[in-house]
Amino acid sequence: MPLSDADEALLLRAVALAHHSIGLSDPNPRVGCVLHTASGALAGEGFTQQAGGPHAEVMAMRAAAAAGQPLAGGTAWVSLEPCAHHGRTPPCADALIAAGLARVVVALADPYDQVAGRGIQRLRAAGIAVDLADAGPARQAAQALNIGFLSRVQRGLPWVRLKVAASLDGRTALPDGRSQWITGPAARQDGHAWRRRAGAVLSGIGTVLADDPQLDVRLVPTQVQPLRVVVDSGFNTPPTAKLLGAPGRVLVVGAQAHAERMAALRAAGAELLLLPGADGRVSLPTLLQRLAANGVGELHVEAGAVLNAALLGAGLVDELLVYTAPKLLGPGLGMAALPALAALDQALVFDFDDCQRVGDDLRLQLRRRGAADFLHGHTVPAVA
Ligand SMILES: NC(=O)c1ccc[n+]([C@@H]2O[C@H](COP(=O)([O-])OP(=O)(O)OC[C@H]3O[C@@H](n4cnc5c(N)ncnc54)[C@H](OP(=O)(O)O)[C@@H]3O)[C@@H](O)[C@H]2O)c1
Repeated sequence: MPLSDADEALLLRAVALAHHSIGLSDPNPRVGCVLHTASGALAGEGFTQQAGGPHAEVMAMRAAAAAGQPLAGGTAWVSLEPCAHHGRTPPCADALIAAGLARVVVALADPYDQVAGRGIQRLRAAGIAVDLADAGPARQAAQALNIGFLSRVQRGLPWVRLKVAASLDGRTALPDGRSQWITGPAARQDGHAWRRRAGAVLSGIGTVLADDPQLDVRLVPTQVQPLRVVVDSGFNTPPTAKLLGAPGRVLVVGAQAHAERMAALRAAGAELLLLPGADGRVSLPTLLQRLAANGVGELHVEAGAVLNAALLGAGLVDELLVYTAPKLLGPGLGMAALPALAALDQALVFDFDDCQRVGDDLRLQLRRRGAADFLHGHTVPAVA
């Protein structure tokens, strides 16, 4: 049954609160909660804190307690099903039951196998009326906000977002490799806000050697830094690379061991991983599976044409984030060094999702057709 407009609006408020968990709650989902008293007054609001910290429901209950608002007989609107298991924190379903709430409205069921409907069952078993949205804007917004969490839990892969800054004629660097800066300061700041959403930022050794980027989140505030990952088959990342000096963890993933270079990188603070693929380079499917298994939900790719092409060609990119500058650069490097096509119908096809002006540039968001099918219960075959 569709939810009432009032329930939908309060669930949308819960999702808006959940946005504050970006850059904070990873690898846990981004969740918000609104509590009303039995008489319909706002009792408290909250959002999920850092991993191991209180979840949204507990934060909202604390706010209600601090404001002296009674919860017995009241209602909770939560953007994700309350947890039912003892993780690093006790189950939120139990806390809602103990508070004496009469009704809980949920935007989205939690597919995590320790929850997966058990939170709702537990609430119902305790006599609480539970309404779960089966469609509607709040459910959609909760899914979009947690696309990375849902992707890693439901298909064992991160949601891969590939970001490029390009000229109007599709160039991402001059022929000599220089690319700083094609887009303007507003687009760069916006790009950092997208990095902040990610559990990891991925680049290739080509970009590290050409640009010496830091790849951290600097231009917007954040509580946590995403893991920075460089695919670098021969461990050629210089130990003096700027990304090793920036705050946060760095993982260099290679394909052939090289004792001396590996020791130098370890001494410079890098974590190292060997994941050889059949072609002598890093196995990208295995890397993505490893990242998801280690809690990476959204993977933000900022790489050059070679790595971009490898990811796109393997069908591993779910979303494109393209900043287009109103400039023509003439000859230069492209977005992806894909092989020539024999026919137009062999093109990689995406759907436009959003288009916005950011400063002097345009931001285009596109999705690979079918990339989000897993959200609708379709099973996506695991990559080899
Ligand atoms: N405008 C933009 O948005 C933007 C963003 C980033 C970079 N860039 C520009 O891009 C240029 C660098 O591009 P690039 O293509 O040389 O470098 P890249 O795509 O960043 O890195 C490519 C390298 O990654 C390594 N790699 C390891 N495993 C791989 C795999 N399975 N598949 C593909 N590559 C793998 C390969 O080197 P090994 O085999 O030696 O490991 C490969 O040459 C620079 O000019 C930079 O300024 C532009």
